[in-house]
Amino acid sequence: MRDGSLDPTQRLLRSCRGEPVDRPPVWLMRQAGRYLPEYRAVRGDRPFLELCRDVELAVEISLQPLRLVGTEAVILFSDIFVPVPGMGIDVDFRPGPTVAEPIRSLPQVEALRVPDPRESVPYVFEILRTLRRELAGEAVPLLGFAGAPFTLAAYLVEGRSSGDFGAVKRMLHRAPEVLRALLARLTDLVVGYLAAQIEAGAQAVQLFDTWAGILGSADYRDWVLPVHREIAAKLERAAAPPSRAEAGAEGARGPRTPLILYVKGGSHVLDCMAESGADVISLDWRVDLARAAREVGGRVSLQGNLDPAALAAPPDRIFAWVREMAEAAAPARGHILNLGHGCPPDTPVEGVRAFTDAARALAPERSGTRAVQS
Ligand code: CP3
Repeated sequence: MRDGSLDPTQRLLRSCRGEPVDRPPVWLMRQAGRYLPEYRAVRGDRPFLELCRDVELAVEISLQPLRLVGTEAVILFSDIFVPVPGMGIDVDFRPGPTVAEPIRSLPQVEALRVPDPRESVPYVFEILRTLRRELAGEAVPLLGFAGAPFTLAAYLVEGRSSGDFGAVKRMLHRAPEVLRALLARLTDLVVGYLAAQIEAGAQAVQLFDTWAGILGSADYRDWVLPVHREIAAKLERAAAPPSRAEAGAEGARGPRTPLILYVKGGSHVLDCMAESGADVISLDWRVDLARAAREVGGRVSLQGNLDPAALAAPPDRIFAWVREMAEAAAPARGHILNLGHGCPPDTPVEGVRAFTDAARALAPERSGTRAVQS
């Protein structure tokens, strides 16, 4: 490593915390997946959940984007629905999550268990521990993730993917006590799941609240913000990285594991996202990055936000957009280059490679984030 430059773990963690870096780090949501021929080869015709449970294959798939397209973080290969069957809910992928018996009543919610994920999905933590060992030598950061309670509830109430998730909105108005009880159970699940991921070696964790943006600002503030705050606060108490746990005494504790919060279509709730207790807010492509940097970038770091479809453009256009994003995000305390949503299956691999190359080509003085003082 050149004198004065940061390793990928330092670059990502410092960006999350709003500390100076040489340039923004880069990774992509849904960076492992069908756009990679190597993923399709490993997958063959295996059911998706089988891949998620196979430690060796899931480790291989998690590492593919690092080796093949130059991402600067590795995210656990899994899905937001992996910990859900342990609650007693039958979930299948066709190809999106499908629930045999959608949740509509209080007795159904009360029958849900909140399992210890170390027992219900031990393979998730085995994958993380293996990845952490594999990545240690390269100082590449390892990310964990979970679906946020509202997004999980949206699928569980609807029963499957839906354009507008009308069923969860109707429940909010018609049977608010059922939705409250469901969100409470899912919050306990998510806190335990993310804490166990951190314990197994995840160095930052992302909470995917993909569908929370379907709520208006007032409903979001009443129903979603308190859940995010509870998760952030409980994680801070529960999930000490091993070195911190060993250190024991409060004074000897290092910084906490960063929390990244993603909401799709969240331009109307940026303030709430910034008040959630998350260290980083991950923006979809419709949010004006410069506006977000001005309005909330002093309080939280930003992640995003290229339109995933733009990866189909020629490499020189992708390079130009990456420079523009870095400049737009410059007033923020930190910025992580990423897409505004997951990388779609029909994305050209060259486009993904151009995106990560463009991040590395950002000279410190051109980069959006403040340069490291030597
Ligand atoms: O980012 C990563 O590379 C890590 C892996 C990851 C997957 N899903 C793998 C996956 C992550 C972080 C997710 C999150 C996820 N899953 C979300 C939140 C983020 C988002 O995209 O909005 C949601 C809503 C889901 C639910 C889900 N899983 C859907 C709707 C689908 C089917 C549609 C689709 O895009 O394929 C899945 C399946 C899924 N999850 C696949 C992968 C690689 C496809 C599996 C395959 O067919 O090979």
